[in-house]
Amino acid sequence: MAEIIKLPLPLLKGTMSVEEAISKRRSVRNFQDKPLMLYQLSQLLWSAQGITRRYKRAAPSAGATYPLNIIIVAGDSGIIDLVGGEYLYRVSDHSLKLIKKADIRSPLSSAALGPSFIGTAPLTLVITAVYSRTTSHYGNRGIRYVDMEAGHVGQNVSLMAVSMGLGSVMIGAFSDSEVSSVLQLSKEYIPLYIIPIGYPVSDEV
Ligand SMILES: Cc1cc2nc3c(=O)[nH]c(=O)nc-3n(C[C@H](O)[C@H](O)[C@H](O)COP(=O)(O)O)c2cc1C
Repeated sequence: MAEIIKLPLPLLKGTMSVEEAISKRRSVRNFQDKPLMLYQLSQLLWSAQGITRRYKRAAPSAGATYPLNIIIVAGDSGIIDLVGGEYLYRVSDHSLKLIKKADIRSPLSSAALGPSFIGTAPLTLVITAVYSRTTSHYGNRGIRYVDMEAGHVGQNVSLMAVSMGLGSVMIGAFSDSEVSSVLQLSKEYIPLYIIPIGYPVSDEV
C-alpha cells in the first residue's frame, strides 16, 4: 500500500505583494541549516501545480494537458514532521506519495554535477515532464509547450518561496540519466529543472 501524506490546505492570502516578491527574488545558492515547515512545502507545491479551479491548476498548461509531475526531495530533518526521502506530489488531493525513505540529496547533487547547495538545501523540488501528454495533442510543437510550462511552474515556485522568506535557484545543468537513476524515474518522466529551496544565509539576499 502506498504511503500517502496529506498536506495542510494552502493559504490563499499572504503578506507580501507580487511586486515585492518579484523585486526581492534572487538566485540563492547558500542555505541555512534550518528546517522548513510542512505548510511551506504545501504552499510551494500548490504554487507549482495546485488545483485552483475545478481541475485547472496554478500554472498555465497548453490545452490543459498537464505534462508535469513534481518530485520532492526532503533532507533528513529538512522539513518538520516529514521523514527525509523522495515523494511525488499528488495534485488530485494535495498530498505526497512516498517513493523512498532515504536522504538522497548527496547522490542528487552528484548527478547535478556536484553543486554543494543541493546537498545542503533542506528541500529540493524536481520538475519532471511526460512529453507525450502534450505532444499527443500538438505533435512536435508540444515539446516547446512543455518546456515553457516548466518555466511558468519554476517562476511560481521562486516567487512563492520569496514570499515566505525562503530562497531558491533554478538548476538546468545536470545529467538527465543520472538524475533519473537517483530518483528512480520511470522512462517517460524526463527531469527538466532541479530547484533547491531553503532559508538563505543573510548575505545571499
Ligand atoms: C534555464 C535556467 C537554467 C539555470 N541553470 C542554472 C544552473 O545549472 N546552476 C546555477 O547555479 N544556476 C542556474 N540558473 C540560475 C541563473 O544562473 C540565474 O538566474 C542568473 O545568474 C541570474 O541571477 P538571478 O536569478 O539572481 O536574477 C539557471 C537559470 C535558468 C533560467
